Amino acid sequence: MPTNAQNGSGYREYIAWDAPTRWFHWINALAVLGLIATGLVILTGGQLGLSPEGKITLKSVHVIFGYVMAINLLWRFIWAFFGNRYARWRAILPGGRGFGAALRAYIASFLTGEPEQYVGHNPLARIGVTLLFLLLLIQMITGFVLAGTDLYWPPLGGLIADWVAASGVEPATLVPGSKDLTDAMAYQSMRDFRAPIVETHEISFYLIAIAVVLHLIAVVVTEIHEGGSITSPCSQAARSSRENPQTQPRGNAGSFSRHKHPKE
Ligand code: HEM
Repeated sequence: MPTNAQNGSGYREYIAWDAPTRWFHWINALAVLGLIATGLVILTGGQLGLSPEGKITLKSVHVIFGYVMAINLLWRFIWAFFGNRYARWRAILPGGRGFGAALRAYIASFLTGEPEQYVGHNPLARIGVTLLFLLLLIQMITGFVLAGTDLYWPPLGGLIADWVAASGVEPATLVPGSKDLTDAMAYQSMRDFRAPIVETHEISFYLIAIAVVLHLIAVVVTEIHEGGSITSPCSQAARSSRENPQTQPRGNAGSFSRHKHPKE
């Protein structure tokens, strides 16, 4: 079990990210990558000349990536109640006593070119991570609706099939992408209901794509600038070139405590 230690390069290492948080990060990264890639093909499907069956297969693959992302995300939300202090809600959500002052201090130090160093997320990163979680949540909820309207897949597919099936038709026999066996008016109402949801899913996709790029830039810039103080969840420890980095809050939500020698 690694411990906080000074390594040969002069950095002091502090354990920040626990194993479940690192697993979450990498499963999420792979799932979101798969979702962005398949989502882009769905978006441009018209130009690619995909057959109707091809489109359904593509959406099915997309939704399978979506289930992985959703289960992983929900698991992370639960872990935020039980994980180590860097994994908990109080270390993620912005706000709480002292947060505004800590944020201003961090931004001011950042602008001087000598950013305060934190084990775990700094106050600005807490805002970023919270926004990203919100976007992923929006994407998950809208995605579940679309999985229902487009494929009749869980968790809402049963309800949607019941809604659009023509009278006397067993809803489970409806075929994704086909109007056969549906009630024309109910089907149209379902499509109208779906329209703003697909719109939201698309806008959220662009925001997530921008967030992913910003995240990668932030990691690279911070690694170069601070010598690896945030070292994202790819490694177990967060390194710091300073002796006394800021630790994440203890006790009350959002309150910051400063420690000369952070304990893990
Ligand atoms: C980071 C997460 C996600 C991203 C970046 C993403 C991205 C996209 C994009 C770009 C599209 C094409 C939109 C369009 O055609 O206008 C799409 C469609 C779709 N997504 Fe996602 N998605 C995500 C998560 C999910 C999840 C969690 C589910 C379900 C479990 C899901 C289900 C669907 C479905 C069914 C469609 C087809 C809608 C259509 O016909 O256009 N997505 N997604």
